[in-house]
Amino acid sequence: MRDMREIVKKGYEEGDYYKFYRLSERMDEYPLEKSNVDRLTALLPNGARILDLGCGSGIPFDKYLADQGFQITAVDFVQKHIDMARESVPNATFIQEDIAEVDFSTGSFDAVLSLYTIFHIPRQEHRDLLLSIRRILRDGGLMLVTMGTFHEDENEIGDFIGSEMAWSSYSLEENLRMVEESGFKILHWEEEGEKGLPEHHLWILAQKE
Ligand SMILES: C[S@@+](CC[C@H](N)C(=O)[O-])C[C@H]1O[C@@H](n2cnc3c(N)ncnc32)[C@H](O)[C@@H]1O
Repeated sequence: MRDMREIVKKGYEEGDYYKFYRLSERMDEYPLEKSNVDRLTALLPNGARILDLGCGSGIPFDKYLADQGFQITAVDFVQKHIDMARESVPNATFIQEDIAEVDFSTGSFDAVLSLYTIFHIPRQEHRDLLLSIRRILRDGGLMLVTMGTFHEDENEIGDFIGSEMAWSSYSLEENLRMVEESGFKILHWEEEGEKGLPEHHLWILAQKE
């Protein structure tokens, strides 16, 4: 099987995500995302430490959070996205690394965010990623993620942002179960978009148990 990571990394390096997405810096232009991010931050103390896995350019989410005084650390494996993020959100810390390999100390974050990214790593690795998120959260820490909702036998490869791209996910029901089995209590979940369409996402806000 082809290496999914290589396809995804090359896809984002050679394609232009920001020509098609995140055209506005204004968080109120993303109402569903804003309601979920606000649901998370309502539960966090001032100045909480938040990690964003797969941060892209940091626009709009990291900027929105950093502007509210949260301490943002964010990770993405595409250098040009990290460069954009450092310029757009100078008061956050950006690390170029694979989200499955980056290492942080146990209990070092109050919240972990990963939006529209987990489905870019092979689904066989999703449980380990959830377990590693759990480990780096403090007790009672929060996780806000989007996951895929489809269940294909193989990783799915297609065209996106002018280049080849790959996705991988279990079904919505399996993902909810996997989050619980990884030691989280689900506080809220909702579906974005229409079932069966590519932009059908599962939003989950969960708390480390
Ligand atoms: C669809 S974009 C979403 C960016 C941002 N979270 C947002 O919602 O605007 C996915 C991002 O995840 C990054 N990404 C995908 N797989 C990754 C991996 N294994 N490690 C680090 N970053 C990854 C891509 O480079 C890209 O910036």
